[in-house]
Amino acid sequence: MSRDEKFRAPKGVHDVLPPDSGQWAVIVARFAERARRYGYGLAITPMFEHVEVFQRVGEHTDVVSKEMYELTDKGGRRLALRPEGTASVVRAYVEHRPAPPWKVWYVAPNFRYERAQKGRYRQHWQLGVEALGVSDAAVDVEVIALLHGFYRDLGLTDVRLLLNSMGDAQTRPAFVAALRAHFLAHGRALGDEFLARVDANPMRVLDTKVEAWQDVIESAPQLTAYLSDVAAAHFEQVQEGLRALAIDVELAPRLVRGFDYYTSTTFEFQSAALDAAQNAVGGGGRYDGLAEEFGGPPTPGIGFGTGLERIVLALDALGASVDVPGIDVFVVDGLGDGAGTTVGTLVEALRAEGFAVDRAYGGRSVKAQWKAADKSGAAVTVMVGRDELARDAVAVKDLASGEQVEVPRTGLVAWLMARNEEISR
Ligand code: HAM
Repeated sequence: MSRDEKFRAPKGVHDVLPPDSGQWAVIVARFAERARRYGYGLAITPMFEHVEVFQRVGEHTDVVSKEMYELTDKGGRRLALRPEGTASVVRAYVEHRPAPPWKVWYVAPNFRYERAQKGRYRQHWQLGVEALGVSDAAVDVEVIALLHGFYRDLGLTDVRLLLNSMGDAQTRPAFVAALRAHFLAHGRALGDEFLARVDANPMRVLDTKVEAWQDVIESAPQLTAYLSDVAAAHFEQVQEGLRALAIDVELAPRLVRGFDYYTSTTFEFQSAALDAAQNAVGGGGRYDGLAEEFGGPPTPGIGFGTGLERIVLALDALGASVDVPGIDVFVVDGLGDGAGTTVGTLVEALRAEGFAVDRAYGGRSVKAQWKAADKSGAAVTVMVGRDELARDAVAVKDLASGEQVEVPRTGLVAWLMARNEEISR
């Protein structure tokens, strides 16, 4: 590896820097606010866990068997970087035993050794929620509505919601057996990898995108035909709840999603603005048996994860973007007092009032500072000059209209607030 290559970010990972990161900050803040309104608290779990925590979510899935970043620490522990958020949250639930219902949200990076391409990265960020301890279909509806409304508020208008039920632990074996029989009867010619998957877990064949396998997948038995009465009734309640909220769904009997923990409700939001191979902006479902796998009491659970990079890509593809608040005020130092107190005090005072304020540094010429003010995108420039100061005033210029006025120093905050009010009217 050349020196140049060594000092670049590794393949498949990215820096997110201003100004692009401004969108990220707004999206995360909106999600945090939405989660708060739905009664979810923030959960921060470690970025790595004992490798067994993730093995529980699906030994036969690519994410666990092929893509995990594993390491042995200096104490000889086998650890893995988190490939997804659910396992860590459920591990934390079982470890701390909070009183159910336990509703949490997260924003976190995940690591998968993927074939890196647009929309598919080796580190990606997810916003997500998990609700533990509730089997009521009302929470399925709530979780889906939370994500649906989040996309709508961001302006992601071209997402469709796919919905399926994976049934429950009692009825799943009958479906898996029927699926295996179907694949063995019609897919023997598809090769060793196909047969190995059928042998390990035929459901993992359903979510592959291998072109040659699609015919036999198309004709495979459908999960919903194998639902128990209880699972079918739950699925019906979820659909009814979504209908009541006017949330459109498409039933997707082949949607099995990529982890072994899913039971009952599963869903995925796909964006038509993204390439087909990675068009899922978010997805999730129930995992009613996972807490027990970690040694906890039987605890139903449901949640979703939505990829931040994909949200931004989908917004870009639609030509949409979220409004990122910029700088309100740029202060130009016409006194040449550099680190001096007059300008510094004014800048701090405005920031304390809640304005976003920037300035130049290093005693630059007034002309250079005006240029910096223009570049900053600030709505208003406040110039502290000797003449104005002698009258205990400052010069204020509205950079949009070009209008310039003199405002008494003590009246500056009131003037800026009045201007903001006028604009928002
Ligand atoms: P997932 O479908 O693997 O589910 O990931 C959730 C979302 O993360 C995807 O819909 C996609 O937007 C994004 N994503 C996944 N992998 C990548 C990648 N390599 N590059 C960019 N974005 C990616 C889960 O992880 C489950 N834990 C979701 C869940 C929560 N189920 C129940 N609770």
